[in-house]
Amino acid sequence: MNRFALTRGLGAAAPTGSRRGRVRSVIGLAAAGAVLFTMSGCASSGGSGGGADSLTVGFAQVGAESAWRTANTKDIQESFKTADIPLKFSDAQGKQENQIKAIRSYIQQKVDVIAFSPVVESGWDTVLNEAKDADIPVVLTDRSVDSSDDSLYKSFLGSDFVAEGEKAGEWAKTEFADATAVNVVELQGTTGAAPANDRAKGFRTAIEGDSKFKIIASQTGDFTRAGGKQVMEAFLKSNPKIDLLYAHNDDMGLGAIEAIEAAGLKPGVDIKIVTVDAVHDGMQALADGKINFIVECSPLLGGQLVDIVKKVAAGETVDKRIVTEETTFTQDQAKAALPDRKY
Ligand code: AHR
Repeated sequence: MNRFALTRGLGAAAPTGSRRGRVRSVIGLAAAGAVLFTMSGCASSGGSGGGADSLTVGFAQVGAESAWRTANTKDIQESFKTADIPLKFSDAQGKQENQIKAIRSYIQQKVDVIAFSPVVESGWDTVLNEAKDADIPVVLTDRSVDSSDDSLYKSFLGSDFVAEGEKAGEWAKTEFADATAVNVVELQGTTGAAPANDRAKGFRTAIEGDSKFKIIASQTGDFTRAGGKQVMEAFLKSNPKIDLLYAHNDDMGLGAIEAIEAAGLKPGVDIKIVTVDAVHDGMQALADGKINFIVECSPLLGGQLVDIVKKVAAGETVDKRIVTEETTFTQDQAKAALPDRKY
């Protein structure tokens, strides 16, 4: 027995007829045992809180579309393992219907908390209401939903994607300060996904007062390397003069680099490139001068998610919005950061 079970057992009261109330009653008894156990000097020394005895979490992941996502999955799985909290994990393979099925199955299995990173922003109200009716709290990680009812989730942990797009646009303004005309092509993320919507918006906000910037082509590459390559090939065929590529993630930027090189051009020189994420391969391309600037988007959300889940399960209040801390990288900064990069 551990300190976390004790905390939960003594947490705010829930209606006794509700599922959470029943869970709390059981935990309350367990907590009484924990008190005795602690008093006898045999309490666990683990600081993780260790909800393993009583807490189960269901996590519905987007898929495995990018290196960012792979790092995110690994970090989440490892963080829950370290915290000794059983995690049910599902991979939606980029499909909203799969994610909805996974969430419904977690509701049926009566997990204590559901966490998920929505594939797209819209269309979640029905299933989130089902979780609410079952008294199962939901935590959004990485991406948000566009629901007008924010009582459908307890917290949203993740990046400010609009700010990421703005940072990319601000860099472009400085980089092309002396240019008179800048033709921009944009590789967007998955259509309808929050980072695709917001990164497009932020970039436009940053460049909108500067008429020399023209977005001459914009298409989704679905956040994948293959998608980035394929769409960039098409961009290169139909646009003789491209000055800047803005890719919503490193993977698409890396795919585009292959297309640019195959077309006999030098990425980072003939066509400047700005991307988002800062995963290892992106940082290496930046250090090698093939990408010119990267806006960081951290996939390391696992530790914070564990903390939020513990609090939510214990009936504690959590911040509705928790924004991930992030930075940006120039070539020199990438060279310095690469040896210690965790993903
Ligand atoms: O939601 C985060 C985005 O999703 C990352 O930028 C991208 O690489 C991923 O697929």
